Amino acid sequence: AIDPNFDENREVVDQHEGHDVWGPVDEPEKRGVHGTHVAVDFDICDADGACIEDCPVDVFEWVDTPGHPTSEKKADPANETQCIDCMLCVDVCPVDAIDVDST
Ligand code: SF4
Ligand code: F3S
Ligand code: ZN
Repeated sequence: AIDPNFDENREVVDQHEGHDVWGPVDEPEKRGVHGTHVAVDFDICDADGACIEDCPVDVFEWVDTPGHPTSEKKADPANETQCIDCMLCVDVCPVDAIDVDST
């Protein structure tokens, strides 16, 4: 599962579509955690898609991650500022790849 303390245990190494990327990143195998308020561990996401289907405000968009050993696309929190903290994505992700900081 995603480390809920990723923001203490990782460093921001890049920006992507307006959000932070928390390392380590070493493509194609390691893609880091994308986003901060809505954070997706790209190295855990296996492209199930439930978050994209269920988010009521369309926070997530598919992004291609060719060569990643778990899946070749990931749910990117492209619109994390729209999040209404409903926690649905956290509940439906079968591999616990998502952390939403609702405090
Ligand atoms: Fe979307 Fe709710 Fe997840 Fe926020 S907590 S990203 S609104 S499903
Ligand atoms: Fe990935 Fe979980 Fe969404 S596996 S696509 S973050 S439901
Ligand atoms: Zn991203």
